[in-house]
This record gives sequence, C-alpha cells and structure tokens, in this order.
Amino acid sequence: MSATEIYGRASPDFEDKLAETEALLRRAGREFQPLTQASSLGAEDMVITHLLHATGTPASVFVLETGKLHPESLALIDQIESRYGLRPELFYPQPDAGEAFEQTHGTEAMYQSIELRKACCGIRKMEPLARALAGKKAWLTGLRREQSQARAEVGFIEADGPERHKINPLARWTTGDVWHFIGREAIPYNALHDQFFPSIGCAPCTRAVTLGEDFRSGRWWWESESAKECGLHVQGASSLIPLKEVSA
Ligand code: ADX
Ligand code: SF4
Repeated sequence: MSATEIYGRASPDFEDKLAETEALLRRAGREFQPLTQASSLGAEDMVITHLLHATGTPASVFVLETGKLHPESLALIDQIESRYGLRPELFYPQPDAGEAFEQTHGTEAMYQSIELRKACCGIRKMEPLARALAGKKAWLTGLRREQSQARAEVGFIEADGPERHKINPLARWTTGDVWHFIGREAIPYNALHDQFFPSIGCAPCTRAVTLGEDFRSGRWWWESESAKECGLHVQGASSLIPLKEVSA
C-alpha cells in the first residue's frame, strides 16, 4: 500500500484548512518579501511547494543539502523543477567542515552523544540555514502541531528574531490531511514515504517505523523525545500572532 492509501484521510473541516492555508500563503507573498520556503523534500514541504505554485505566491525554495540526504530525497529536486518550473536552491555545509568533523569524531559521532549529534547538525544544517535566510523577510516551514509535543503550539506566523518571521502554513493540518491532499492533487513525494518513513531527515538519523509507532519515532530514535530537535525549530522568545489575524 502507498502512503496516500495508508494515511490519506481528510479531516471534516479540511476544505476550511486548505482555504486558510491558501489565504496565509497569499498574504505572505504580499507582506513578507523576500519570502523563501525551507524544504526538507518531505511530504509537508511538497504540499507547500505545490500550494505556492497553485496560489501564484512568489517565493524561492531552498534545501539544506547536508551531504547526508537519501538519494530518494534528492531525486525530488528534478521532479519539482519539471512539475512547478522552479529549481530549489541547495545550501551545503562549508567546504571541508563536514569532513574535518568526521575525521576527528568518526562517521557515527551522532550516535555517541547529544553534543556530537548537535555539533553535526550545527555544521550541516544550522550554519547553512543562516546563509539561506540571510536577507529574507520570512521563511515557510512544514511544521505541524500534530507532529510532536514540542510543536503542539506552533503558530501560523511567528517572530524569528527582530527582523524575520517564520510562517507555518500547515500548522493545523493532520497527517491524514497532508496525505489526502497529496493523493488528490497527485503531488510528487519521496519514495521512502511508501516504505514506512513518515518523517525523513538525514539518512544516518532516520529509519522506518512500524504501524502504530509515533510519527517522529524514526528520527534520532536513540535519543529521548525531548532532545529530538536539530535546532532549526528550537523556539526562543518568539511572539505568536493569533490565528484570527491571519485570514486574508
Ligand atoms: S527537523 O528539525 O526535525 O529536521 P522536520 O524534518 O520535522 O524538522 O522538518 C520540519 C521543517 O523544517 C520542514 O518542513 C522544513 O521546512 C524544515 N527542514 C527540515 N529539514 C530541512 C532541510 N534539509 N532543508 C530545508 N528545510 C528543512
Ligand atoms: Fe548530522 Fe544527523 Fe544532524 Fe544530519 S540529522 S546533520 S547526519 S546529526
């Protein structure tokens, strides 16, 4: 069975959520330029790229190419270009930084301690993220409240430092909504999702889950639940803009 068949089940108010998301994207396109989308090439991010195209929202798309992504993830880059006419920009770690880290700590350092795992994420994700966001007014992410306890209060528009906003258009979507929409619109998606990878990051830090296991249980599975963030979405003193202010 495919992921669309397994997970696709729209919420009763799905059409309202979709309209809300489209309105938010249009508003972001008007008010938050330059606007960019952070795409992990996972299911949520493919939905957002599709909706950017469908709503005619001007935004660039970038991928943090950590050097550790699965080939199935990278294969989507060409598919995005042929379907939507835009090529995501790839941001790589600083030349030699990843190799130097591996020479010192080995290729399996991430399993040895949280500190080493976070250091790897720092080199391969956080530093490139800073470059990807430089000069941007806002970035779009695929965060959803349902994904984890740490994300249960994700806002639609959040302050991200003094000069930038982070926009989470799928904050209210369920996994069922995401897969219903992917199936309905025939949105290209990562082949690993059909092999029981609900959440996909770097290859060494992602594995398949079994039916009934938690959505993020295949990510950094050797760490406790509270540690499972790579730093991209660790919230500081971000101020949330209430939902009622979001509608177009
Ligand atoms: S993570 O922090 O644990 O890696 P997750 O995989 O759930 O996050 O992705 C959440 C959002 O972070 C994605 O929807 C996307 O916006 C952004 N993101 C995660 N990984 C990447 C990546 N490699 N490149 C660009 N954006 C990413
Ligand atoms: Fe390194 Fe794993 Fe973080 Fe990727 S997710 S940057 S491989 S520790």
